[in-house]
Amino acid sequence: MKEQGERIVVLTCYDALFARLLDAAGVDVLLVGDSVNQILAGAETTLSATLEQMIYHTKIVRRGSERALVVCDMPFLSYQVSREEAIRNCGRVLAETGCHAVKLEGGQPMAETVRALVDVGIPVMGHLGLTPQSVHALGGYRVQGRDAATAERLQRDATTLEAAGAFAIVLELVPAPLASQITKALTIPTIGIGAGPACDGQVLALPDMLGLNDRFAAKFVKRYAALAADVREAVELYAAEVREGRYPGPEHSFPK
Ligand code: KIV
Repeated sequence: MKEQGERIVVLTCYDALFARLLDAAGVDVLLVGDSVNQILAGAETTLSATLEQMIYHTKIVRRGSERALVVCDMPFLSYQVSREEAIRNCGRVLAETGCHAVKLEGGQPMAETVRALVDVGIPVMGHLGLTPQSVHALGGYRVQGRDAATAERLQRDATTLEAAGAFAIVLELVPAPLASQITKALTIPTIGIGAGPACDGQVLALPDMLGLNDRFAAKFVKRYAALAADVREAVELYAAEVREGRYPGPEHSFPK
């Protein structure tokens, strides 16, 4: 798609119900992000997401999708401890969920792990910039690569991941000009989130772009719907009808 100048459409997805809808709408890649731990499970960070949790969500996303590429986000400490553990855990994810690829966070220090995974036939998507599993080391959720040294490191990290065999790289919270330079320097696609318009594709967390997650929206999030308000309105109407005895009506009841 990059070669043909076609932009890649990626959304996070956590269950079969939405997987069916997104697949039918033509989304190219369903990313089962460890953001599920924050967005659906209510945790502060992604750090406490577990391998079992990611396997469960990836399995049900795969069940609901027919066409899209399904990528499982490997949780914290499932791939960093040793190459052997990374191969075992990523291999287990592929075997048990039926997904097509895994995503790992990190640049140069993860390159040998990426190469080892690719060598055994596991496709790997990289993730650079704001890597949420390192949120404490990075001092919070902030734009990465604003200073020259970090920008240079990110550029090096991207070319190193490409050389190690990654098939795509997520760039999160990176200044648009830097994301553009990285995108031009690579033959593999970049998928941006808060990284400007020059990336080869874009990803957003589905509940954010649907306006289901109405507590907070980062600057880069565009809300394409306002589902939180729709849900509240529907539930309030249902509650009122139940309380007033207006639901169920005769049309929802069985006469015998
Ligand atoms: O966990 C996630 O949802 C992600 C995307 C935001 C890239 O990693």
